[in-house]
Amino acid sequence: MSNILVTGGLGYIGSHTIVKLLENNHKVFCVDNLSNSSLSVKEKICKITRKDFELGNFNVCDETKLNKFVNGKHIDSIIHFAAYKAVGESVKDPLKYYENNLLGLISVLKVCKQNNVTNIVFSSSATVYGSQTNFPITEDSPLNKPNSAYGTTKLVGEYILEDCAKAYNFKIVALRYFNPIGAHESGMIGESPNGIPNNLLPYITKVAKGELKELTVYGEDYDTIDGTCIRDYIDVCDLADAHVRVIEKIKEIKNQFEVYNIGTNKGTTVKQIIDTFERVNNLKVNYKIGPRREGDVEKMYCDYSKIKEDFGWEPSTSLEDSLKNSWRWENNK
Ligand code: WQD
Repeated sequence: MSNILVTGGLGYIGSHTIVKLLENNHKVFCVDNLSNSSLSVKEKICKITRKDFELGNFNVCDETKLNKFVNGKHIDSIIHFAAYKAVGESVKDPLKYYENNLLGLISVLKVCKQNNVTNIVFSSSATVYGSQTNFPITEDSPLNKPNSAYGTTKLVGEYILEDCAKAYNFKIVALRYFNPIGAHESGMIGESPNGIPNNLLPYITKVAKGELKELTVYGEDYDTIDGTCIRDYIDVCDLADAHVRVIEKIKEIKNQFEVYNIGTNKGTTVKQIIDTFERVNNLKVNYKIGPRREGDVEKMYCDYSKIKEDFGWEPSTSLEDSLKNSWRWENNK
């Protein structure tokens, strides 16, 4: 059992991770300024786990508040999720993203240094690979310039972490998520994007529910089996499980800084997602084919053998179950 601080712990991935940490008997402290979440998420986590945890309601960029919160709690590790994540918004207003995501990270690192917290897990993204030609993507694949300021904050974040890990003798792991989907099987927590969703799954569930008229499939002329883009969809509970496994054994990593892909080794097209969603939930999703979306890459799927080898992590939720859970969550909201 250890004392773990989770920043952004009431967000989509953070909330599922807190559930797993509490289920594994860790003591959780959470910092979240509710900028893209709500207090009801905390209630739901407590209901699912029948356990409670302390919440600090402030922005992690506020180093003084963060220091005060951490002080005296004997924190062993930090999982740092807190960041803005809307790709399109970050292209329109890059400074908002550089300020919040990079200052937040620097504040977390400074507080770690001052309080002798040496273990950190960072929420990174497959976006650091940019556009690739060789598949599956491994951690040795070249890093390319991300096509959004959001993506740049993740890439630069990794560079900052690598330097700090070496200089201050930290153990840091960056987890590069591919496309997170799904929700907790209870239907009590899941993804809640603000406004009209940009990501595929929340858009599909809103169309299925009748809250949005129809889905536009962005492009049918890609060089794939049915012409639509391929992504590696990873279940959010499996993703949460990866954080718990890593945090429990982070002291054993070979280098001060390591990166791991979190995906499924499988690529799925947009049409396959729609078909599977319709089949497992027994409904129809209105959709039309539209032009390609600017910035989209044709294919993304990874090889996760590095994390399997080092931490014994493997995804265990089927695509069918993830899509059922997404639909259950949408209906419960
Ligand atoms: C998936 C596929 C779209 C919406 C983004 C970020 C990335 C990561 C995950 C965190 C694509 C298609 C989508 C729609 C569609 N986030 N699509 N109609 O673009 O792979 O990745 O989210 O780090 O950084 O860039 O995810 O869910 O937007 O799209 O046809 O209305 O669905 O073209 O092929 P993406 P997505």
